[in-house]
Amino acid sequence: MPKLGVNVDHVATIREARKTVEPDPVWGACICELAGCHSIVAHLRQDRRHINERDINILKETVRTRLNLEMSTAKDIVDIACKIKPEQSTLVPEKRAELTTEGGLDAASSRSKLKNVIRRLKKNGITVSLFIDPDRDQIEASKDLNVEFIELHTGRYANAKRESQRDRELERLVESTQYAVGLGLRVNAGHGLTYQNVRDVALIPDIEELNIGHSIISRAVMVGLDRAIREMLELIT
Ligand code: PXP
Repeated sequence: MPKLGVNVDHVATIREARKTVEPDPVWGACICELAGCHSIVAHLRQDRRHINERDINILKETVRTRLNLEMSTAKDIVDIACKIKPEQSTLVPEKRAELTTEGGLDAASSRSKLKNVIRRLKKNGITVSLFIDPDRDQIEASKDLNVEFIELHTGRYANAKRESQRDRELERLVESTQYAVGLGLRVNAGHGLTYQNVRDVALIPDIEELNIGHSIISRAVMVGLDRAIREMLELIT
């Protein structure tokens, strides 16, 4: 079975809704680790809409499993990664207007830009992963770029409306994993995975880690709400 990487961005999203200090994604990461997750994922976006540099700096000190920094190839972000040196960097495309990372990197057509960024990150001892769609051209380009990991974008599978479409997308993930592993790449997967749809992806042989954020944080709100109400009632009654 794959390992679990937990993306704590949405803990910070709630904090940033009020620009205050709670909930703290660092504390959230600690709880995730104590519960047994295998890595902590955080995306330092250029607009800092959730995670900020303070978070990444402290996470680097406190995370005991592995810190996987999701990031674009923008120079200032790469500079920060090279300074903080997370164990892993996952390169993702980033558009300002998007609600979340919409598609995979176009590794096939941005090779020279990626090559420089990957070289810098590796020189700083950071393991590099490319977030790509389950597509042969993208897998081959990733192999050419000499990265250790790819992360297959599971969004099309997760968003499929009909069962036939979902089955087709699952098959694409299975075939892409086999193809990538055959080329010597290591494979993670993530995006849009939920308690309802994760099982079939978890059963794909050779996927090493699933990175999941929104669904876990959403569930945490719901399973934690009852206790939060009781604690508040105890204070005021
Ligand atoms: N993997 C990558 C590369 C991502 O960009 C994201 C979203 O930040 C995730 C995994 C987690 O996606 P979700 O929040 O939909 O579980």
